[in-house]
Amino acid sequence: MLTVLILCLIPATRYNQIDVPLMRYLKGSRTVDPLSLHLAGEFVENNLGTEQAADGSVTVRMIAQQYVFVPHCILVPAGVPVHLRITSADEVHSLAFTGTIYNVKVLPGTISEARLQFSNPGEFKTVCREFCGAGHYAMRSALKVVPRDQFPILRSGERGNCEAQ
Ligand code: CUA
Repeated sequence: MLTVLILCLIPATRYNQIDVPLMRYLKGSRTVDPLSLHLAGEFVENNLGTEQAADGSVTVRMIAQQYVFVPHCILVPAGVPVHLRITSADEVHSLAFTGTIYNVKVLPGTISEARLQFSNPGEFKTVCREFCGAGHYAMRSALKVVPRDQFPILRSGERGNCEAQ
């Protein structure tokens, strides 16, 4: 009986003592503290949204949390590489752009990265595809793809979203 108990406990302690630190180490800079996202670092509120690089490519930073995606509506130019960086403030979520092949799993403590590109202008519904609690089915937002010349010119430090258009 005692042996059975010990065998059951080993995986549980091993997970926190070995697996979690090991995963952190292997992931390196892709880790982030889910409890302080709004206080400091890459995912503070005024850094969320679309950032434009000198070469015209864009980086979109988002947070998934019960039960919203922030920003609620993201704006990107068509035909341009989009580098997505997203993390979760709580549970595991999954960001899917309906009508596209893109589906990104989002975990607390980790930055999920994806390379996206949308060839044509249009609006896509964004939904959560991972059950994350009572409000899961209401966790939806939008992605707006506009022609390149209609995308606002962003100053350094400025971030685009649908309201900024
Ligand atoms: Cu978030 Cu389901």
